[in-house]
Amino acid sequence: MSAAPGLFVTFEGGEGAGKSTQIRLLAAALRERGLTVLMTREPGGSKGAEAVRHVLLSGAAEAYGIRMEAILFAAARSDHVEQVIRPALSKGTVVLCDRFMDSSRVYQGITGNLEQSFIEALERVAVNGVVPDCTIIFDLPAAVGLERARKRSAGPDEQPDRFEKEELQTHEKRREAFLDIAEREPLRCRVVDATKAQEAIAAEVLAIIEPLLPIKAHGRSDAEHIS
Ligand SMILES: Nc1ncnc2c1ncn2[C@@H]1O[C@H](COP(=O)(O)OP(=O)(O)OP(=O)(O)O)[C@@H](O)[C@H]1O
Ligand SMILES: [Mg+2]
Repeated sequence: MSAAPGLFVTFEGGEGAGKSTQIRLLAAALRERGLTVLMTREPGGSKGAEAVRHVLLSGAAEAYGIRMEAILFAAARSDHVEQVIRPALSKGTVVLCDRFMDSSRVYQGITGNLEQSFIEALERVAVNGVVPDCTIIFDLPAAVGLERARKRSAGPDEQPDRFEKEELQTHEKRREAFLDIAEREPLRCRVVDATKAQEAIAAEVLAIIEPLLPIKAHGRSDAEHIS
């Protein structure tokens, strides 16, 4: 748990699991309750990190190896944390982030075959103490998620990104890796069945986050009122 007055929630899971859909629905529900909400995403979310995002998702860094990619992800995360996430949390904002450190553990660590100590070291410097209060892991069969992502990307200019292009087996391995994280860190992580209807998932997500709000974000409303 961070000591900041805000609340830091991350959304994790494979391609097409519904992270971006649910982050929007949760942001709307929390704003309706009068909370200050910041929606952000990785890679990216800050000026410096958005500059690196294209290099990563286009596959431009792939030729230089997985270590290079992992370090670039960490560089982007560090900028995002220090420029955007930490300042928002310190002001009492509810920060909802689409992918964060668990995606690095899974994509570069598990399916990238990078040694755990390397990933852990990068995570430590990039996150620099800003650990999510809650991580929601959207779980569904990889084939279902990829099919959803494929349909979504049916437009003429939309191409699958560097990671979407990988084999089904790799995506299944990632699913297992996310579930392993949830099992190892049950206090931080909650797994949601992402095959359900959007509205049912949204209600479940809100039910997970609501009990965390009075302790953290509501304190902020009072502080705002005084100032
Ligand atoms: N519960 C659901 N049932 C069916 N379709 C869904 C559901 N949630 C989202 N979708 C649809 O699936 C597609 C992928 O959803 P979304 O973009 O939210 O996933 P994502 O996890 O953000 O994917 P990515 O990792 O590729 O960014 C979208 O077209 C969305 O409308
Ligand atoms: Mg998305």
